[in-house]
Amino acid sequence: MSTQKVALVTGAARGIGLATAQSFAAQGWNVLMLDRDHAELARVVADVPRATALDCDISDPDAVAASFTALDQLDCLVNNAGVAQFGPIEACDFALWRSVMATNLDGTFLCSQAALPLLKASRGNIVNIASISGLRASTLRVAYGTSKAAVIQLTKQQAAELGEYGVRANCVCPGPVRTKLAMAVHSQEIIDAYHDAIPLNRYGSEAEIAAAITFLASESASYITGQVLAADGGFDSTGVGLPALRKDTP
Ligand SMILES: NC(=O)c1ccc[n+]([C@@H]2O[C@H](COP(=O)([O-])OP(=O)(O)OC[C@H]3O[C@@H](n4cnc5c(N)ncnc54)[C@H](O)[C@@H]3O)[C@@H](O)[C@H]2O)c1
Repeated sequence: MSTQKVALVTGAARGIGLATAQSFAAQGWNVLMLDRDHAELARVVADVPRATALDCDISDPDAVAASFTALDQLDCLVNNAGVAQFGPIEACDFALWRSVMATNLDGTFLCSQAALPLLKASRGNIVNIASISGLRASTLRVAYGTSKAAVIQLTKQQAAELGEYGVRANCVCPGPVRTKLAMAVHSQEIIDAYHDAIPLNRYGSEAEIAAAITFLASESASYITGQVLAADGGFDSTGVGLPALRKDTP
C-alpha cells in the first residue's frame, strides 16, 4: 500500500463534494471524485490535482460494486452525494420517498459496505454527510430529514462495529450552504428565516463544511469516532427566542 493517502468523495462534481475534493488535494491526498453527473464531473476533475473521476450512481448496487472493485487503496470514504426534496407529508408519495432514501441512505450504506475491505486494510475512516435536517425536524422535509437522521444513526452503528478494525466513522451535519441543492429548495423566505435562526446569522460556505470533513478524516482526529459534528453556525444548539433577544434588547 502506498503511503500516499487516498480519499473517495461521492457527489464530488459540485457543491460541498467538490470543495471537499479540493481540500483533500490541497492537503496532499489523492482524490477519487465520484458522481453520476459525468459531464460536470469530467469538466471539474481536471482542475483538482491528483484527482480521478468515477462515474457512478450510488443508488445502484451493481454500479457501486463495479466502481469499488476496481480500487486498490482507500484511506477515507466521504459519503456526501445527496438529494433534497421539500414538500408536505401528504405530497410525498412512495416513489418520491424511495428516490430520496435510495441516494441519501441506501447509497451511503452501499458505498460504505463496498469500501470496507479497503478501509480495514488501511485502518481508514468514513465521514458521512447528514444535515441539520437530520438533527432538528422542520416542515416539508419528511423524506429528506428522515433519511439524514438515519445517516446519523448509521454512522454510530459503523463506529460501534468497525472500531475493532481501527476504522473510524464520523458524521458532519452541515447547516445551509448556497449550493445548487439548497437553492433549488430554499425560497427567499426560507433564506431569511435561516439567517434569523442561526447565531452566526449567515449561510456557511462549501469550504467551511469541507474543513470539518477533512479534519475528521485526518490523523488529528485519530481518537474521534461515532461523533456528529454540526457545521451549522450554531443552529443546532439554539432554541426559540434568539432573534428577538439579539435585536434591540433593552
Ligand atoms: N447545501 C446545503 O445547504 C446542505 C445542508 C445540509 C446538508 N447538505 C448535504 O450535503 C451534501 C452535498 O450537498 P450539496 O449542497 O453540495 O449538493 P449539490 O446538489 O450541489 O451536489 C450534490 C452532488 O451529488 C451528486 N449526486 C446526487 N445523487 C447522486 C447519486 N445517486 N449518485 C452519485 N452522485 C449523486 C449530484 O450529481 C451532485 O453533483 C448532501 O448530502 C446534502 O444533503 C447540504
